[in-house]
Amino acid sequence: MPKRSRSEVEKKFLIDAIDAFKRKLLIISPEYKILAANNTAMAGHPESIIGKPCYEVIPGCSSPCPSCPANKVMKEGKASLRYDLSHNFSGNEDTLCLYSYPVYLGDQMDAFVMLDFDLPALKNMEERRIRSNSFLRNLIHSAVDGVIAADPTGKILIFNEAAVQFSGYTVKEALNDITIRDVYSGEGAREVMQMLLSEDYGGEGKLISYHIDAKHKSGEIFPISLSASIVHENGKIVATIGFFHDRREEIRMKKELEKTQVQLLQAEKMASLGKMAAGVAHQLNNPLGGIILFTKLVMEEYDLPADAMADLERVLNDANRTKDIVKELLEFSRQTSRDMKPQDINDIISRTIFLLENQSIFHNIEIEKNLDTDLPRIMGDAQQLNHVFMNMILNAADALEGSGKLGLKTHVLAEAEMVCIEISDTGSGIAEDVLPHIFEPFYTTKEQGKGTGLGLSMVYGIVESHGGRIYAESELGKGTTFYIEFPIGEIPEGGNKIG
Ligand SMILES: Nc1ncnc2c1ncn2[C@@H]1O[C@H](COP(=O)(O)OP(=O)(O)OP(=O)(O)O)[C@@H](O)[C@H]1O
Ligand SMILES: [Mg+2]
Repeated sequence: MPKRSRSEVEKKFLIDAIDAFKRKLLIISPEYKILAANNTAMAGHPESIIGKPCYEVIPGCSSPCPSCPANKVMKEGKASLRYDLSHNFSGNEDTLCLYSYPVYLGDQMDAFVMLDFDLPALKNMEERRIRSNSFLRNLIHSAVDGVIAADPTGKILIFNEAAVQFSGYTVKEALNDITIRDVYSGEGAREVMQMLLSEDYGGEGKLISYHIDAKHKSGEIFPISLSASIVHENGKIVATIGFFHDRREEIRMKKELEKTQVQLLQAEKMASLGKMAAGVAHQLNNPLGGIILFTKLVMEEYDLPADAMADLERVLNDANRTKDIVKELLEFSRQTSRDMKPQDINDIISRTIFLLENQSIFHNIEIEKNLDTDLPRIMGDAQQLNHVFMNMILNAADALEGSGKLGLKTHVLAEAEMVCIEISDTGSGIAEDVLPHIFEPFYTTKEQGKGTGLGLSMVYGIVESHGGRIYAESELGKGTTFYIEFPIGEIPEGGNKIG
């Protein structure tokens, strides 16, 4: 722009305006000497600063500062702005903003102007940027799901706390020692990338709730649900970000739920079978009494041949056996009264073992007792509980066929407030198709005459009536473990809670 001449009045106004300017303004020679300064720059300097090197006047500088915008102006001949959070003209720890531009005399750079800013807006922006960065960091780190971002080479850029939990790697290890490929099992990372690049899994660049296997640092493979997306910057892929949800707990709960459903079904079936059994038992009791009575009468009152007597003896035996079954059925369907008192399960188990262990079938069976001495008492009927353990132990002995190990363990399931009894044997085990039926009345795999199939169904009924539950785990050829759980300190009808 061609220079125009100014009147003296205009020049004076210009100088007054520069002096009235509230920012410091210095005009500096290429040798860093102050050629002129406005009033604001002069303030606080009793002696004139004209002719002094600028770095002696600007607090915090002792030699030409390498980052001074004047250097850039000198090198490039155009205006320059320097912005940082160090000193400013007043030497305060503050946002420094120096603006410098050249003053030409013809083609020659004659001097340059230095102008300081204290741009509160800029400072606030910086603070806001730092604040929002830390907010985002907190957001990512406190996410419940694992958040992992990686660049296109697989280098991990973000690895939050939940990712540390499910993967076993520390943040430092994740950022320095491994790649995204190590987080997945097998070729999982490649599979995910292929799906991200395809349109079919939630749109291009997106993958929604995909089930895949992750790999823990220990090598353990476990299922996760993954949502991921590609991050673009200026049209280029710069990263992928994934949200990893560990599915182990969900799967465990699902299995637990399925098991409970099966148990519920079983409980319903047992309840209706129980009612039916009770009805049948009642109906059978009277005719059975008649059969036994009249058989005895005939045997006593008639002088019968030995063959006929032997036949009647069989009738009597079978009728008595049937009577026993009826008695058990009535017990099973809880037609008999109960006497609920605080009971020491360890004591009941020990007494049952004492009665049984000298019997010949136990001679080659090793009994391993592991009873928790601090076991709390439970509310129960001693006779019925005796019956439970007698049946369980006899079943185990049958499965052991004379030799092996019988384990009896008691402990507390603190979280559920239950006492747990584990009865295990190293016997024949139970086939998968047999296991769902073992608690059904009259279900037996034993040869005719050896088992009624009522043992476990009675046990089931007793355990259930005590507010407990029973279930079995078994492996064919290896053995079986029955778990019986009773609630601790149940409130009996009309009684007090016990510990
Ligand atoms: N510890 C065990 N190991 C292997 N199988 C077992 C065990 N306990 C029970 N079973 C299986 O469950 C079935 C049912 O058991 P349950 O006690 O109800 O009847 P049982 O023993 O056959 O006859 P009983 O009425 O005389 O007890 C058994 O026939 C057997 O197949
Ligand atoms: Mg049995």
